[in-house]
Amino acid sequence: MADRWTPDSWRTRLIVQVPDYPDAGKLADVEKQLATFPPLVFAGEARNLKKALAKVAAGEAFLLQGGDCAESFEEHSANNIRDFFRVFLQMAVVMTFAAASPVVKVGRIAGQFAKPRSSPTEKRGDVELPSYRGDIINDNAFTAEARTPDPVRQLMAYRQSAATLNLLRAFATGGYANLANAHQWMLGFVKDSPQSKRYQDLADRLTAALEFMRACGIDPESHPELRTTDFYISHEALLLGYEQAMTRVDSTSGDWYSTSGHMLWIGDRTRQPDHAHLEYCRGIKNPLGIKCGPSSTPDGLLRLIDTLNSDNEPGRITLICRMGADKVSDLLPPLIRAVEREKRIVVWSCDPMHGNTVTSASGYKTRPFDLILREVKNFFAVHAAEGTYAGGVHLEMTGTNVTECTGGARAITDAELTDRYHTFCDPRLNADQAIELAFLLAELLKAERATKVRPLAAVSGL
Ligand code: TRP
Ligand code: MN
Repeated sequence: MADRWTPDSWRTRLIVQVPDYPDAGKLADVEKQLATFPPLVFAGEARNLKKALAKVAAGEAFLLQGGDCAESFEEHSANNIRDFFRVFLQMAVVMTFAAASPVVKVGRIAGQFAKPRSSPTEKRGDVELPSYRGDIINDNAFTAEARTPDPVRQLMAYRQSAATLNLLRAFATGGYANLANAHQWMLGFVKDSPQSKRYQDLADRLTAALEFMRACGIDPESHPELRTTDFYISHEALLLGYEQAMTRVDSTSGDWYSTSGHMLWIGDRTRQPDHAHLEYCRGIKNPLGIKCGPSSTPDGLLRLIDTLNSDNEPGRITLICRMGADKVSDLLPPLIRAVEREKRIVVWSCDPMHGNTVTSASGYKTRPFDLILREVKNFFAVHAAEGTYAGGVHLEMTGTNVTECTGGARAITDAELTDRYHTFCDPRLNADQAIELAFLLAELLKAERATKVRPLAAVSGL
């Protein structure tokens, strides 16, 4: 695409999944205000994430991306953010320690508010109302008033993102993420779960390693990399008016960056090559995700990659594959082969959530944990067969003790879904299930990295 790009050039393109705001003047006012607000993230941080993802693409690190399907205004609290972050740290430390691989940490948080919907309206009995599109757009309650898109919610989402990110930054750099605290990250309700012993054992070994290093003169006080971590934020680039308002020129490079999150992704429903979402994303320099589903074709995918990354810059593109446990073995290899043939540098990430959603007997939207595990295993197996790297995972998870996905070591049953089914959108892994998955990932990762001999140049260039 040779056309000139501007932050608003998407407005002349076809677009799907846009809310119907009744008051265009009010919307324009809100977007104007947002454009004057401080950036949430800096260009330099987005560049650092891109460098880290370039290492993932080269098989030198692993991407852990996860968080709520959709954040909500109602569940915004320090405890929820802390509980999410500590589960995330536990998963990261399990993989870093057990698989001896650096983990790039990207939350699906501090901006993940807008949802694409399969139908623009929802019908209950005789009443038909606009679908709920996420708290940044409308309210979940089934009344005409609640479901009418209100632009002011964008200001609330911005404020909530800023507050959430502020706490995450404090946790990541202020001492909470210190490896010496690995034992304390265990959540109360996980303590009596089958995962807890496994995690305690690992934390014991980690503590012993830290004590040994302290004796050698390396400790968290003198080595910040042992007591801090880089934590990045990401969300789906869906509500483009909001994204445009948060798009700023980086004064050091003169390039345009999204400052609403470090990494943005394009959803499965909005990746039409000539449409607005592609147009917006091609002009910002942030790392980008592309969701790949059963409808992705090799040629279609290559075209998207070319549009978004014509320079083949490492770390720019992460392909987030959500095929379903039983389809991934058939659908993924043709995509990998096309990308390899054209020598496009990408991160291959596995989203084992979205292709495995079923309706339970009790009528709940759920995801069987064994299907999630199976998609992850199949994803690694495909990459092993193709000689490429399984680079990361993309998860919907929470630190709270929900019962939304069935199965796991604690064996949540269909009937138990009613107990604590809190999600505003898709079913999430709870802390137990997330940690169980992390142990599996560590095993798979260790096995994968053991079989691949890296060229010496790549190792010494670290
Ligand atoms: N800084 C390293 C990293 O982020 C080590 C580290 C510090 C760490 N705190 C952590 C790793 C918490 C995992 C979890 O990888
Ligand atoms: Mn979802």
